[in-house]
Amino acid sequence: MPKTSSTLLAISVFAVAASVAAAWKMGNFKSCAKKDTCPADDDGEPKNSAFVFVKPHANTEATQNLVRNKLTQSGISILSEKEVSGKEIDEKKLIDQHYYAIASKATILPAAEIPVPVEKFEESFGEKWEDVLAAKKACNAMEACKEFGCNPNQLNESWQKAHVVKFGGGFYCGLVSYNDKQLYVFNAFFMSMREKFVGEKDSIHCFEVQWKPEQLSWADFRGKLLGPTDPADGPEGSIRKAILDSWEELGLKSVPNKGDNGVHASASPFEGLAEKTNWLGASIAGDAFGKALLDAGLTEDTIKAWSVDPRVKQPDGEMGSVFDALEDTDVDECLKKLVELNGIN
Ligand SMILES: *[C@@H]1O[C@H](CO)[C@@H](O)[C@H](O)[C@H]1NC(C)=O
Repeated sequence: MPKTSSTLLAISVFAVAASVAAAWKMGNFKSCAKKDTCPADDDGEPKNSAFVFVKPHANTEATQNLVRNKLTQSGISILSEKEVSGKEIDEKKLIDQHYYAIASKATILPAAEIPVPVEKFEESFGEKWEDVLAAKKACNAMEACKEFGCNPNQLNESWQKAHVVKFGGGFYCGLVSYNDKQLYVFNAFFMSMREKFVGEKDSIHCFEVQWKPEQLSWADFRGKLLGPTDPADGPEGSIRKAILDSWEELGLKSVPNKGDNGVHASASPFEGLAEKTNWLGASIAGDAFGKALLDAGLTEDTIKAWSVDPRVKQPDGEMGSVFDALEDTDVDECLKKLVELNGIN
């Protein structure tokens, strides 16, 4: 593209985003004036809104209180709270949708629908993918448990011993043996991650939250308030570090680690929207950020498709993850970037 037209494009994308942001503020103000019950801090400004949940291994009343206090002490408003049972998580495949990139190959798609790179498969395993499929020697992880007659942890152990090849980010294939059977399995490790969420006694405790970006940037919400993936690296006062430091008093059964780190929180306003539609069954049009995206010209189909983090064309011309492009952005910037991505895809 010639330089002038790319500059023009950039300017027009910015202009659209700015006018959308202004319209959103006005729209919000009007619709709020109509209602009897405006939230106390609803001044019509776009807010950061995230989805936070206490993970099953940490879901005690004491942890819920700790998280609630940390959030509100940081000036964050809690819009709603909800408990979701392991049974519901299992039946509605909520955790599978949450980890869609990994789970699509483990529990959602049958082997024949998994986008296997056929040349790489043959190179890695010395067999043709179409022959393997025809001979029914491949399956996803959930099917593998049935075929082998094993549980998720037994599958994970066999996976650790298998010849495993990486086909892409979060996309692995292994030739797995269990007793006297052998099958090509995709992302088999996911079954034991999933298992932590779907037991009869498991549940998560959800918080739908919002706050003003001027008070707390998204980057600080994650880096300072939530804390990093490994809770041991967490700054003092962060939620994950606080849970690590008092896990016994909180009633946890084992010491937190990188996987069992107590709490999840959305990585951007867009992931927040995707998670609220998944876990809470929220509608896109009924969500302030979802409505702003619709008003900015993104279709509901695009928003839904992008909610599972596909790779799309990025401003630099390369393909890249939607979620990565938006990570740690505040609401206005996130909206602007999504309008830009929508314009080039
Ligand atoms: C899977 O097995 C490996 C090796 O035994 C272990 O380190 C890992 O924690 C297991 N994964 C889960 C989710 O249990």
